[in-house]
Amino acid sequence: MATQRQTSQQGDGTVAAPGDDTLTITDNRTGQTYELEVSEGTIRAMDLRQIKASDDDFGLMAYDPAFTNTASCRSAITYIDGDAGVLEHRGYPIDQLCERSSYLEVAYLLVFGELPTTAQLERWVFDVTHHTFVHEDIKQFLEGFRYDAHPMGMLLAGVGALSTFYPDAKQIDDPEERYMAAIRLIAKVPTLAAFAYRHNMGLPYVYPDNDLSYSGNFLSMMFKKTERHYEPDPRLERALDVLFILHADHEQNCSTNAVRGVGSSQVDPYSAVAAGVAALYGPLHGGANEAVLRMLRRIESPENVPDFLEGVKNREERLMGFGHRVYKNYDPRARIIEQHMDEVFEATEYNPLVEIARELEKRALDDDYFTSRKLYPNVDFYSGIIYEALQIPTEMFTVIFAIPRTSGWVSQWMEMNDDSEQKIARPRQIYVGERERDYSQIGDREGPEKIIGPPARRPKRQRRGA
Ligand code: CMC
Repeated sequence: MATQRQTSQQGDGTVAAPGDDTLTITDNRTGQTYELEVSEGTIRAMDLRQIKASDDDFGLMAYDPAFTNTASCRSAITYIDGDAGVLEHRGYPIDQLCERSSYLEVAYLLVFGELPTTAQLERWVFDVTHHTFVHEDIKQFLEGFRYDAHPMGMLLAGVGALSTFYPDAKQIDDPEERYMAAIRLIAKVPTLAAFAYRHNMGLPYVYPDNDLSYSGNFLSMMFKKTERHYEPDPRLERALDVLFILHADHEQNCSTNAVRGVGSSQVDPYSAVAAGVAALYGPLHGGANEAVLRMLRRIESPENVPDFLEGVKNREERLMGFGHRVYKNYDPRARIIEQHMDEVFEATEYNPLVEIARELEKRALDDDYFTSRKLYPNVDFYSGIIYEALQIPTEMFTVIFAIPRTSGWVSQWMEMNDDSEQKIARPRQIYVGERERDYSQIGDREGPEKIIGPPARRPKRQRRGA
């Protein structure tokens, strides 16, 4: 792919013809015309820089807050067609992976690009299984959190802390270090997640059980009580594994972009992944499934759905679990989760919130307000209902999202490091502030005497715990 291609000005004999992979831009400020190469449906933003209004002009930039129309990388990991509702990992459709694969096999696929052979998978599963323990000091570190610390905050800190236990991971170009970091992250994040949960519950931490599957071991670390050996219900173990597959990667979303952005400074992968955990914590990203459950509880019953939707249309409420930056159609992951719901309820207590959710979906999909804005259920709309049926508390939902997404973050981090076009991420800005002001002594400053402090006080929150 030609980069920084010299563009030729039309008028010097060069004529762009229909069918050329070029874009002709006329700068009306100067009357100059430029021809830019179009490749893979994009122009190179740096090709705009030559477009200048005067000799000392910096050159044209693209303004794209929130990166809504900017490709930040070339990636071969996950393909999404948001209009058609298609999701593929390394070319394999998500529904086939959910039906026929396992989470650890999908993690291998994401990291290495191909489905493993039997021997490769056995080695991979062995390595992940045998790195699930965390250093006892990490356990003590987690014990230092307040009893009601949000488990996502604990996970964020725990993943960041791992970097201090594996300082050799700083050698990010060493293939062995990279492999070990991938294994350790995928193996230890469930352990940190379960420890955070047990901490909140005031229960002793349960160490990993190497005889169980990845999802079975997670259920054991969460729910084992006094039994000698925890036997997960195979239906729930499978349902959780499918949820893990569904959340494994989703191309350049907010948290993946954070991992890539932070990783572009060549920091170690644990620190880069900790940035991903932080981004996932937000209510507009991974925190949405928690918000969906709170919303469903607030609605209380299917009869209240029309009123709630009126509130959404009047912009008093937001319909959590609906809408997506990329999907402008039904999120395929939401459909797969919906299909697994009845199986889960066979093995657990029925969750009446599902009726409110189905009523919300039915009415919203029947309403022009939502369809005209292409607002459909996303992955978070039904996942929380399944987590709740598995008796996982609401505060753990985003943590459960982070477990499988770790394999996506690791694969994206590796791909970025192998990409010779990538450099430290450093967007530009349009400066809109004051310029060249002379500093004045404090007594000489004029202007309205407005003391800036916190806004009007709200009633003091009851202090919880010690
Ligand atoms: N409820 C009500 N209105 C909405 C919603 C919603 N959930 N989402 C978008 N809209 C409206 C929005 O008000 C705007 O309307 P208008 O054009 O009249 O002003 C229009 O739809 C376009 O919305 P937008 O805010 O420009 O869309 P976006 O691409 O910036 O936002 C989103 C995407 C996911 C942040 C947003 O849809 C949202 O807040 N959804 C609820 C939170 C949620 O479920 N997040 C999980 C996303 S999937 C999991 C993940 O990737 O982490």
